[in-house]
Amino acid sequence: MSSNKPIRIPRARIAGVGKAVPDTILSNADLEKIVDTTDEWITERTGIKERRIVRRGDKTSDYCIRAARDALAEAGVEPEELDFIILGTISPDMRFPATAIFVQEALNAKNATAWDVSATCSGFLYSLYLAEAIIALGRAKKGLVLGAEFLTPITDFTDRATCVLFGDGAGAVVVTEAEGDRGILSTYIGSGGNASHVLYSVGHGTAGSVNQLGEATGERYLQMNGNEVFKHAVRILVKSAKEALDIAGLTAADVDWLVPHQANLRIMKATAERLGIPPEKVFVNIHKYGNTSSASIPIALEEGRHDGSLKDGQVICCIAFGGGFTWGGAVIRF
Ligand code: UT7
Repeated sequence: MSSNKPIRIPRARIAGVGKAVPDTILSNADLEKIVDTTDEWITERTGIKERRIVRRGDKTSDYCIRAARDALAEAGVEPEELDFIILGTISPDMRFPATAIFVQEALNAKNATAWDVSATCSGFLYSLYLAEAIIALGRAKKGLVLGAEFLTPITDFTDRATCVLFGDGAGAVVVTEAEGDRGILSTYIGSGGNASHVLYSVGHGTAGSVNQLGEATGERYLQMNGNEVFKHAVRILVKSAKEALDIAGLTAADVDWLVPHQANLRIMKATAERLGIPPEKVFVNIHKYGNTSSASIPIALEEGRHDGSLKDGQVICCIAFGGGFTWGGAVIRF
């Protein structure tokens, strides 16, 4: 049942969706040959059966560009019409410039302003939040929002606790001004600043600064205390859904589809249960892609739109949670 608040009038809408994932599949059976694990353990504990992995030489921007072209074609928007390109990623092509700049260059989106957002698995929803706000303020009419990650290159394939979880890919949406009652009904984001030690990657950051001899001192790979992350995930995802629904003037009972960040099937099921959303209304594709961080929601939106699950007029609630911690929610009516 809806709350008594009026349903918020959307200012922006998603006009097109696209995705690009690598062709190479790494199955649980493949992983059994690499680390001490089993298909049974991975499936039961995470819901993952396989994930896509990039090849040497691939770049995050390559996948962004493919996903963007499909989203633009579906929206009927030309690259020159774009006012902004916002990319949520923690695995950029380079330290600088922003990977969104390479997307701008390849698309020849010469009227856009392009930048990256670093918000771990919430990166796409953080970017969508900005897109909605910019359009609502009247500062822009059309933009591209992406979530893309290459996580397997920063994953330690000798560590069974993490290497079974992650995958690579990109998703994109074109956001335009809304007309009528369809569109982005709300966006919501948050961060905790209390858990940076449980999920992080020093990589080429200054915390792993190179000494005068040029020797890197930081850890190369993603580090995660999975149990610690798990403990907080459901509570924060439930809060994210409730906040986003409340801003939209809706409740969990109004939701036709919950589209959660695909981190772990158990987390998704427990979150839906606490919200009172039945399992058949939870969009799941983690079995095919693993955890693709900020790419997981736009990939799910693309698949759900194109397989006919996410229909026009339905209420779709997206929620994410990631390292930091960061979190976010968005309520969309296509
Ligand atoms: O993207 C957002 C951020 N990330 C997440 O949301 C991830 C949140 N965390 C999780 O999804 C789960 O904590 C994991 C899937 C990472 C781990 O599942 P778990 O049920 O929390 O397992 P656990 O870490 O408590 O490990 C249970 C057992 C351990 O063995 P002992 O100590 O009980 O003998 C682990 O050593 O499972 C063992 N184990 C494995 N066994 C086979 C850990 N990884 C594996 C593996 N294969 N790959």
